[in-house]
Amino acid sequence: MELIDRLRSARRVAVLTGAGVSAESGVPTFRDAQSGLWAQYRPEDLATPQAFQKQPSLVWEWYAWRRELVSQVEPNAGHLALAQMERLIPEFTVVTQNVDRLHKKAGSLNVIELHGDLQQIRCSKEGTIVENWVETGRVPPCCPACGDLLRPNVVWFGESLPEEALRSAWETARKSEIFLSIGTSTIVEPAASLPWFALQNGAIVLEVNPNPTPLSEAAHFTLNGAAGVVLPELVRTVWG
Ligand code: OAD
Repeated sequence: MELIDRLRSARRVAVLTGAGVSAESGVPTFRDAQSGLWAQYRPEDLATPQAFQKQPSLVWEWYAWRRELVSQVEPNAGHLALAQMERLIPEFTVVTQNVDRLHKKAGSLNVIELHGDLQQIRCSKEGTIVENWVETGRVPPCCPACGDLLRPNVVWFGESLPEEALRSAWETARKSEIFLSIGTSTIVEPAASLPWFALQNGAIVLEVNPNPTPLSEAAHFTLNGAAGVVLPELVRTVWG
């Protein structure tokens, strides 16, 4: 099969992952109706600077709940398969929209975190990462240096993505021979444009998702299944 031959001989492979790759670890996705994080809240009520301005403690608590949840889950077979692919392919980069650190926990070394890192806390004013902040009971806690509110080091709607991460993500997509888009609804920009950019630059695009997305029609290959099932199967089939 062409996909298998291409993966076997590929030198530069890029991957974009979304919440779907962490679903089988027990981390809720955003837009899946049954388990989605947005089921009981609206994104604009929680993941925007305005929401934090208006209800800092609600926003802080929601992220504290997600931090707690994510600190207790393990990478699943999908994350592990991607870490294995990195060891089998000369240049392999995972660009993730996820903030759960599960790719790194699974052993992936070359990971670009487009939307930040849930476990990191930063000063709202200075932007500096605050390592040893203490829960003082005040919610949200204040920056020990300047006294301003602390916030999660994640990208909120309307905020720009970390510049260096975004630059290297575009470059990775541009150079890729094969681009895997895994577990993302491919809606939120600019991440959603990466697979299209790879396509325009001649990459073979493979989508892994149990459901169709705006990318499905244009992808060369779509594997309609769960990442935790499809990816280990793909590694076994291609590399034995
Ligand atoms: P979504 O919740 O929008 O989409 C999850 C995707 O994963 C859907 O297309 C599902 O069909 C698919 N999916 C579910 N289970 C899966 C599985 N086991 N294996 C593979 N795919 C599965 O999550 P994202 O696309 O990641 O941004 O959302 C993108 C961004 O929107 C997030 O990074 C976040 C959110 O707002 C910010 O917070 C800035």
